[in-house]
Amino acid sequence: LKKIIVNTKSKTYPVFIAENSFSAPEAFLKRFNIKNIAIITDENVFNLYEKDLKKSFKNYNPVILSLPAGEKSKAFNNIKKILQLLKDLNLSKDDSIAAVGGGVIGDAAGFAASIYMRGIKLIHFPTSLLAMVDSSIGGKTAVNFDGVKNLIGTFYQPEFVLTDPNFLKTLPEAEFNSGLGEVVKYAFLSDEKFFNFVNDNYFEIIKNERILHRIIFNCAKIKSEIVSKDEHDKNLRKVLNLGHTFAHGFESALNFKIKHGDAVNAGIISSIILSEKLGIIKKENKERLLFLPLKKGVNKIIGKIDAETAYNFMLSDKKKDGGVLKYVLIKDIGKILIDVPAPKKFAVEAINSLKKFL
Ligand SMILES: NC(=O)c1ccc[n+]([C@@H]2O[C@H](COP(=O)([O-])OP(=O)(O)OC[C@H]3O[C@@H](n4cnc5c(N)ncnc54)[C@H](O)[C@@H]3O)[C@@H](O)[C@H]2O)c1
Repeated sequence: LKKIIVNTKSKTYPVFIAENSFSAPEAFLKRFNIKNIAIITDENVFNLYEKDLKKSFKNYNPVILSLPAGEKSKAFNNIKKILQLLKDLNLSKDDSIAAVGGGVIGDAAGFAASIYMRGIKLIHFPTSLLAMVDSSIGGKTAVNFDGVKNLIGTFYQPEFVLTDPNFLKTLPEAEFNSGLGEVVKYAFLSDEKFFNFVNDNYFEIIKNERILHRIIFNCAKIKSEIVSKDEHDKNLRKVLNLGHTFAHGFESALNFKIKHGDAVNAGIISSIILSEKLGIIKKENKERLLFLPLKKGVNKIIGKIDAETAYNFMLSDKKKDGGVLKYVLIKDIGKILIDVPAPKKFAVEAINSLKKFL
C-alpha cells in the first residue's frame, strides 16, 4: 500500500494506491468513520463491476446510481439525479458519496457532493488512468454548461482517494491512451528524470505493470504536491492547466467528440508551438520538447477543427483577463510559465500548425 498525503487549507487527506484495494474498501470506510454511502458510477463501470461493487460494499447496503457514460454526463440533469438520490436515501452531512469511475463521474459526483446540504462527504475510487493520475486528486468539481466545458464548478476535497490499478485491466485502450495525455503533462511539469522515464518507456506503460504503477504514483505525487501548495488556482496550480486552454477549445469545437486526454496532448503541442512563436523556447529546443507528445500522436479528429471556431470557444475559458487569453507555456522541461498573454493571431497559427502533425 502506497500513501500520498494531500495537505490543503480546507482538508488534509490521503491518496491510497494499492492493487486489489477495491476488493476490501470497507476497512477504509470504517477508518474514516463513513456511515452510509450512495455509489455514483457510470454504465460501463457498472456493467463490468456490478458484482464487485455489491460485494465490496456489502455491509453498507449499497445503493448504486449508474449514469450514462461519457462527457455529456457532466450536466445539470445528472446532478439533479444524484441530488434526488441523496434526498430519497435521506442522507445527511455525515454520510458520503462514493464516486466510482473516471473523471466524468468524479467531477459530477464531486459537484453534487459539494452542494448537497452545503457539503456531504466524498470518496473517490478512480477507475480510469486519467482519474488515477489526475482528476481524483485536488478537489476540482465541474459540470459543462451551454456547450462550455467545466463552466460551473466548485473546489471540494474528498475524505480520501483509493486507487486500485486493477481497474485498468478493463479500461479500453483508447481510454488508456487518453489518460496518457495527462501523463505527458506531468512529464513536462516534473523534471528531466521523470520526463526521460516517460519518454523512454512510453510504449511499455500499457504492457508493464511495474512501469505503470511507477507512473501512477509519480503523477499522483506531483499533483498532490502542487495542490497542497495552491489549492485554489491562484498561482502555482495554474501549471496543471498546461495545454488545457487549447484543449477545452478543441473539446467544445468538436462537441466533445475528442477524448479529454487526447485534447490535452494536442493542447500541449499547440502550447509548445505558441511558446516558440513568442520566443519563450529556442528553435533548437522545440524538436526535443515535441518528441514526447508526438509519440502519443495527434488524434485524427483534430483535422476537423476550424482554428477560428476553436479560438472562439477558448475565449469562454476561465483563464482570461480583460478579454485577453492567458496561457500556460513551456520554457523547458520543469520550467513552466503561467498567465502569459498571446495575440490571437499566434494562437490561431499554432492550431493550424498542429494539423501538420496529423
Ligand atoms: N477534476 C479535475 O481535476 C480533472 C482533471 C483532469 C480531467 N478532468 C475531467 O475528467 C474527465 C475525463 O476523465 P476520463 O478520461 O476518466 O473520462 P470518463 O470518466 O468518461 O471515462 C472514460 C471512459 O472509460 C470508461 N471507464 C472508466 N473506467 C473504466 C474501467 N475500469 N473499465 C472499463 N471502462 C472504464 C468510462 O465508462 C468512459 O466510457 C473530463 O471531463 C475532464 O474534464 C477533471
